[in-house]
Amino acid sequence: MTADRPRPSILFVCLGNICRSPLAEAALRHRAQEAGLEILIDSAGTGDWHVGKGPDPRSCSEAMRHGIDIGAYRARQVAPDDFARFDRIIALDRENLSDLRRIAPSQGRARLSLLLDHVPGMEGQDVADPYFGGPEGFEETWRQVSQAACHLVNAMLREGR
Ligand code: 4NP
Repeated sequence: MTADRPRPSILFVCLGNICRSPLAEAALRHRAQEAGLEILIDSAGTGDWHVGKGPDPRSCSEAMRHGIDIGAYRARQVAPDDFARFDRIIALDRENLSDLRRIAPSQGRARLSLLLDHVPGMEGQDVADPYFGGPEGFEETWRQVSQAACHLVNAMLREGR
């Protein structure tokens, strides 16, 4: 990043903000730090059921297996001003993306995209919701969000961000 450019900003959005988007947030924070990139990173949910709660314990365990403590993250619901605050809002699945398109203010600056569209060969695919399954679903979520984090960071490095 150069001094005259603002820090890029990315918001990850899933349904509850307790399983997938906190892992996406953690994976990108980790990868960006390794690459020496300063990015404003946050996550939110389209739903409000878990607002104020910490991540699902299975997400915490999965992040911890990779040496990352996400226990202090707190769920929040996506808000209209997020579309002005963030450069990019990245949805974890297609339903989240269509919900975001529906609620986006017409003058919002954020570019909306699907997370796996950033991974060559996985375009158009959802990061499956692991909430109702076992721990293997969270391992798969981690694999997908960390792959996407690598590609996002590489793209930003190529773009000189
Ligand atoms: P997330 O998973 O969208 O990845 O955070 C879910 C968490 C909670 C619920 C659904 C999905 N729920 O129905 O409460």
